[in-house]
Amino acid sequence: MRRAAHARFPEHLSPVAAVSSPDNELWLQCWRDRSTDFHQKTVNPLLVRYWQSLNLPAKSRVFVPLCGKSLDLLWLAGQGHQVAGIELSPIAVRAFFRENRLHPVRRQVGRLTEWSSGQIRIFCGDIFALTAADLGPVNAVYDRAALTALPETTRIAYVAHLHALIPVMCPIFLVSAEDPEESDGTASEQAIAEELLALYAGRFTVDLVHVVPSYQSDPEAPEAPPQLVEHKLYRLLPI
Ligand SMILES: C[S@@+](CC[C@H](N)C(=O)[O-])C[C@H]1O[C@@H](n2cnc3c(N)ncnc32)[C@H](O)[C@@H]1O
Repeated sequence: MRRAAHARFPEHLSPVAAVSSPDNELWLQCWRDRSTDFHQKTVNPLLVRYWQSLNLPAKSRVFVPLCGKSLDLLWLAGQGHQVAGIELSPIAVRAFFRENRLHPVRRQVGRLTEWSSGQIRIFCGDIFALTAADLGPVNAVYDRAALTALPETTRIAYVAHLHALIPVMCPIFLVSAEDPEESDGTASEQAIAEELLALYAGRFTVDLVHVVPSYQSDPEAPEAPPQLVEHKLYRLLPI
């Protein structure tokens, strides 16, 4: 995980008012072009294997930032949770409900459109436009490739905004894919990414729970040899 820049937003501006990700148009274009290699065709195995370690009651409310059209939303709902995602692209949100044969109800919530069906709600729009009042109660966060989808210069503001959305005692279950050469230079696959510690350590303990190495081809250079990628699960527990 790359190190975040130490950007600060002016103190008189709230993160909600001051920030929007500069990559928004790129992500919207990815969905229009169907360049969505990040989308997993099965439920994330680290989620299935380790989610119960959070010991959440079944009816807990789980927030899934930058959710795409992930099947993980369905799995979490299957555990009995109330699931709330947020996703920028209306193409992704529509595809999630259509591909899973769900018939959502839509309504305007602040600056976002909320699509909901049964235990799953997805807010469509920029996460920085989401307020704690829109989102409602949250007991845990599931982040798979959410923090790392944002440019490094936006991550400090994203974490500040996340803190404003969730209660103090809310754990975060974070799954990321990391290039080992970029982790912390020691080549130790058990090293906790420095950036995660810098972003979250004031409020959470950060535990690296599991690492799954795999070799993956670059979809933009399929002829190049597959590169080692480390899929890491971090459990962030409130201090
Ligand atoms: C790397 S993908 C991960 C998607 C999903 N978590 C998964 O596991 O498939 C990142 C997603 O975040 C969405 N996204 C990017 N910036 C966003 C923002 N500012 N607000 C809401 N969603 C955003 C993108 O459209 C994309 O679907």
